[in-house]
Amino acid sequence: MSQSHAQAYFGRRYTLSASHRLHTETLTAAQNRDAYGKCNNPHGHGHNYVVEILVGGPVNSETGMVVDLAGLDALVGAKIMARFDHANLNADPAFDQQVPTTENLCRTIFALLKDGLPAGKLESVRIEETENNFFECRSVPSEPLGREDH
Ligand code: NI
Repeated sequence: MSQSHAQAYFGRRYTLSASHRLHTETLTAAQNRDAYGKCNNPHGHGHNYVVEILVGGPVNSETGMVVDLAGLDALVGAKIMARFDHANLNADPAFDQQVPTTENLCRTIFALLKDGLPAGKLESVRIEETENNFFECRSVPSEPLGREDH
C-alpha cells in the first residue's frame, strides 16, 4: 500500500451554548416527565455543548492538510454557530418535528455539515453535553466505488 492511499483524520472542537426543553406532544405530561425527568422542566435549561467535528480523507499533496481549516471554520460558523449558539433549540425549525435531544442535535449538525463539505469528508460529529454524556453520529460506509488499482 502506497502512502497516497492512507486516510488521515482531522478533528476540531467548537463550543456551543444553547438551551432546550425535552418534551414531545405525542406523550402525555406524565409520560414526558417519566421520559425526560428534569429535562422536561417547562422553563428549559442550558448546556455548553462541545461539538467535535472529525473529517477524513487523503492528505492534500500541496497543502499537507486533510481539510481546509479556514473553510471548515467558516462552514461551521455559518451553518452551526450562527444558527444554534445562544439559541433556544426548541424554537429552531430543525426541531419542529423532533425533540431537541442531543442525539437529534448531533444528527442535525451532521446533516448540515455533510452538505457543505466535499463528499465523504465528514466522518463524525461528537457532542459532549455534560461531563458524563456524549453523543456521536457517524457516516455509514457506502458501497465502495469501482477502483482500477486493486
Ligand atoms: Ni439538557
